[in-house]
Amino acid sequence: MNILVTGATGFLGKYIVRELLDNNHRVFALVRNKAKIPSGWEDIQIIEGSLTDNISGQIQEIDAVIHNAAKTPGADFNTALQDNLKDDFFKTNAEGTQNLIQLCQGLNIHRFIFVSSHVVVEEYRQDYYTCSKRKAETYITKSDLNWTIARPTGIYGANDYWKQQIKKYRKMRFTKIYGNGNETLQYVYVKDVSKAVVNIINNSQTIRKSYILAGPSPFSKNQYYKSINNIVKTNILIVHIPLWLVRLIVIICDKLIKGLQIKYKNIINAIIPLSYNIEQAQSDFNFRPRDFEHGLKDLLNDMNEI
Ligand SMILES: NC(=O)c1ccc[n+]([C@@H]2O[C@H](COP(=O)([O-])OP(=O)(O)OC[C@H]3O[C@@H](n4cnc5c(N)ncnc54)[C@H](OP(=O)(O)O)[C@@H]3O)[C@@H](O)[C@H]2O)c1
Repeated sequence: MNILVTGATGFLGKYIVRELLDNNHRVFALVRNKAKIPSGWEDIQIIEGSLTDNISGQIQEIDAVIHNAAKTPGADFNTALQDNLKDDFFKTNAEGTQNLIQLCQGLNIHRFIFVSSHVVVEEYRQDYYTCSKRKAETYITKSDLNWTIARPTGIYGANDYWKQQIKKYRKMRFTKIYGNGNETLQYVYVKDVSKAVVNIINNSQTIRKSYILAGPSPFSKNQYYKSINNIVKTNILIVHIPLWLVRLIVIICDKLIKGLQIKYKNIINAIIPLSYNIEQAQSDFNFRPRDFEHGLKDLLNDMNEI
């Protein structure tokens, strides 16, 4: 199939492109900045522009779109709470998606896979990133396209952020965890997400459905560091900071230090346990993600490749 991928030069996008090529699809990549094109993309048709541009003149013979581009908070979720970035989040994620839907409708492209995020189903999240992704989903579900929405949880894999993290862990002696560390995470490995997204394209059972793409089961923050110690061969000790102490410090300092309220909100967001059921994805397109320790081993191997 001829497939247009947005956000192709981003972290997940590069893996989606690779997975599409491995499955003999012809890839058309929407690229904002040609300097970011990786080596090995000689057979890929580059469409230069942004989500908010009119790119219809550059598009021909596309069978399906994987809409993966987004303004993301990156490593620091605080950015999703910053008022000065609100317009950016909505312009890229909501308006950009609406623009792409209209483009598909105008060109008779019916198949549309949207890479959303697990955050949209977490009702307590009201930051700009989450709200803009929710709005994008609304545009999609109201359209007459043959859409599928994939909502990955936190994705890990060989990128600059994880390279830095691994470096940091290798030097780290202690880490702090707010609360008892029993709250759960359910990260998913980047190659499991890219494979799922590509598997979805030709699977008619997935049309007009949304799927969480998470790791196989939730694991605690304490377990996270045990896995890091085990696979990265580190010896990090966890220091638990009791929540009553965090709350007390926040109450005392809130009025004195500007912005602390936001950081506190993030702490509270971070200690809410995450746990997802992936059975629907397992039965509809055989989603079989690897567990965190296997993913970490693969990440260390992949780091040597990129
Ligand atoms: N990473 C995670 O943990 C995670 C978790 C859940 C969901 N997701 C979702 O997965 C998708 C990919 O995330 P990622 O982590 O790979 O993010 P990323 O590395 O920041 O990549 C985002 C991509 O979107 C492109 N982009 C941003 N604004 C654009 C615009 N206006 N027009 C065209 N392209 C634009 C970027 O282009 P440039 O390359 O030019 O910067 C980049 O290629 C996103 O939809 C994100 O919401 C990610």
